[in-house]
Amino acid sequence: MRIVSGIQPTGNLHLGNYLGAIRNWVRMQDEAQARGGQCLYFLADLHAISMPHVPADLASNTREMVAALVACGIDPERSILFNQAQVPQHSELQWLLNGTARMGWLNRMTQWKDKAGKNREGASVALFTYPVLQAADVLLYQATHVPVGDDQKQHLELARDIAQKFNNDFGSEQAPVFTLPEPFIPPEAARIMSLRDGSAKMSKSDPSDMSRINLTDDADTIMQKVKKAKTDPEPLPSEKSGLEGRPEAANLVSIYAAMAGEDVPAVLSRFGGEGFGRFKPALGEVLVERLAPINARFMELRRDRDALDAILKAGADKARALALPTLDAAYRALGL
Ligand code: ADP
Ligand code: NA
Repeated sequence: MRIVSGIQPTGNLHLGNYLGAIRNWVRMQDEAQARGGQCLYFLADLHAISMPHVPADLASNTREMVAALVACGIDPERSILFNQAQVPQHSELQWLLNGTARMGWLNRMTQWKDKAGKNREGASVALFTYPVLQAADVLLYQATHVPVGDDQKQHLELARDIAQKFNNDFGSEQAPVFTLPEPFIPPEAARIMSLRDGSAKMSKSDPSDMSRINLTDDADTIMQKVKKAKTDPEPLPSEKSGLEGRPEAANLVSIYAAMAGEDVPAVLSRFGGEGFGRFKPALGEVLVERLAPINARFMELRRDRDALDAILKAGADKARALALPTLDAAYRALGL
């Protein structure tokens, strides 16, 4: 089992990023290892240039993300953690795959249609060919499994189509050049909502800092934010169905459940009938208890630019070594 997954480097990481994305990576790392496999995790800095971006922020966001990943439990000794830009084989393989990918396939990608919108003429070529780079990202390492959310299913299908056509056209049945990766459905990813508005996602783009818990928040700040979180006047229900139509209450309960490692019914069986005056301090405590070690490690690491660069360099060296045989095979198959 070899799992390959990428994440866009972003700064200002929050509880939503942790529970919705990073924690799943930690779980996959453990699951892959239990099955004798390995994970490759990369920061998708090459993908970041397909949309308008601020060059000065890209490297710092990449480091920030690495600090967060390591603080949250990604172990660079067990998983290969790197950024795309330091492994030029990603771009090289993408070019080779451009000969196999069809215009019609890319034209059908719903993400392309959504992101380009009405301004297709003004969109970057990179935005259009982005899914081919994604195919290269996983085929380069003979990935057996790629975690996909709903929005990525179509891109994984495309990677499989490209691999299959390339194998057919240029490989042999005995020696296919690429492994066809299977989707890996990650353990249920929590969707965390804003603390100020139960209908909006917790996000770094929300202008109110009170709407989210940042990985940089100290214990007092976390307790304050939970105390001020929007709620309704009713006590908590003792059954899950009682949370319907109460998005703020449902969000706080699901955060508690995710952080405590319990399910929602278990949380409600304990707190059902209690008001938020009792529940909020308990939620604050669980958050502080679980986030304190992550916060401490994160704050320490993000100050240590050399350590972060060393992690990325070591990861890139390992990734390159794994990538080279496949890239060579692709060149040879094409007669290059
Ligand atoms: P933001 O919405 O703050 O800009 P990003 O879009 O950079 O966050 O998301 C980075 C990763 O974190 C993605 O995998 C995304 O699905 C996940 N994520 C972001 N916000 C949330 C949230 N509120 N709940 C669950 N997952 C989230
Ligand atoms: Na976003």
